[in-house]
Amino acid sequence: MKRIQIFDTTLRDGEQVPGCKLDRDQKLRLASRLEELGVDVIEAGFPMSSPGDFAAVQEIGRIVKNATVCGLSRAVERDIKIAAEALSTAKNPRIHTGIGTSDSHIIDKLCTTREKILERAVGAVKYAKSFVEDVEFYAEDAGRTDNIFLGKVIQAVVNAGATVLNIPDTTGYCLPDEFGAKINYLCTHVKGIEKCTISVHCHNDLGLATANSIAGILNGATQIECTMNGIGERAGNCSLEEVVMIIKHRLGERFFTQVNSKLLNPISREVSAEMGMAVQANKAIVGENAFAHSSGIHQDGVIKARDTYEIIDPQEVGVDKSLIVLTARSGRAALAYRFKELGINLTKRELDIAYKIFVEIADHKKSVEDDDLKVIWNNIGAAVA
Ligand code: KIV
Ligand code: ZN
Repeated sequence: MKRIQIFDTTLRDGEQVPGCKLDRDQKLRLASRLEELGVDVIEAGFPMSSPGDFAAVQEIGRIVKNATVCGLSRAVERDIKIAAEALSTAKNPRIHTGIGTSDSHIIDKLCTTREKILERAVGAVKYAKSFVEDVEFYAEDAGRTDNIFLGKVIQAVVNAGATVLNIPDTTGYCLPDEFGAKINYLCTHVKGIEKCTISVHCHNDLGLATANSIAGILNGATQIECTMNGIGERAGNCSLEEVVMIIKHRLGERFFTQVNSKLLNPISREVSAEMGMAVQANKAIVGENAFAHSSGIHQDGVIKARDTYEIIDPQEVGVDKSLIVLTARSGRAALAYRFKELGINLTKRELDIAYKIFVEIADHKKSVEDDDLKVIWNNIGAAVA
């Protein structure tokens, strides 16, 4: 069984989302919740970006007891020095430094050459190593970097002492097969890579961030970078709750994480509230509808045996129970079930009458609530009398 480390970047990549900025106290509150959740690494911020972020990283370093606290920097000495200063309070500090490696980044963004990128990558890792032992290198846009050049860069930073190798699919471009093959290529071509943690950092531009991260671990990666609720630049990052539950439910014979899945829903809601960013209702694991059933066929199945339509027990991810939502598509079984929840056991005759009234109400409403059920109950009495 291989342990997959969970590197949470909610407070860095997640916080980069327009409108999601957190103040220092909010970051501190969430950092301690992430530690309770059991993540291995908390990327606390980008210290060079603002004095507020510097202070937040410093304070998070003070309060976090077990997790590694990580600060981002570009492959620029000033950034790295400032990150090291901010992290000086942390028990387990990690500097995360790196540079673009795809031709698009090298030519269009950085206006430089592959040779210079190699030099800067090595220089950044060596400089970061002069402050901390644990140095993570990111090859930005690795997803669109050709594997041979990427292999050269990664070999060079391994030789320079990087402890963690981050292979980001920055633009969410790769297909799972391609991304898995990239990780496999690095594992089989870079000497000494087995001494390092191989990390995947996938964005969701094509909705493949989770699939690509899983392809990464199936091909040798041992760390996944992700955020609560999948928030992050543009279409977001890989969702923490998704990879954790995929590993637990589908890959449990090969891998495990140290995340306490019961805290996933409570912390998802806290992140959403602190950031003012709603979670889409149909979001896997943490969406409002993730354990809600509204069609008659599904409701009948779930009432008889929960696992007919649910592969996860809601309590396992911190949700009290599955919801049977009454809509015009619901059937008698669901109606009887909801009455029972209100303490009313309908006879067959009462249920027939209730159902007739129910479908009329349901056709005019998005969903039928407890107050409507009380009205129906009063009308049954009248109909029976
Ligand atoms: O998406 C990305 O490449 C990043 C790096 C800074 C790690 O966020
Ligand atoms: Zn990113």
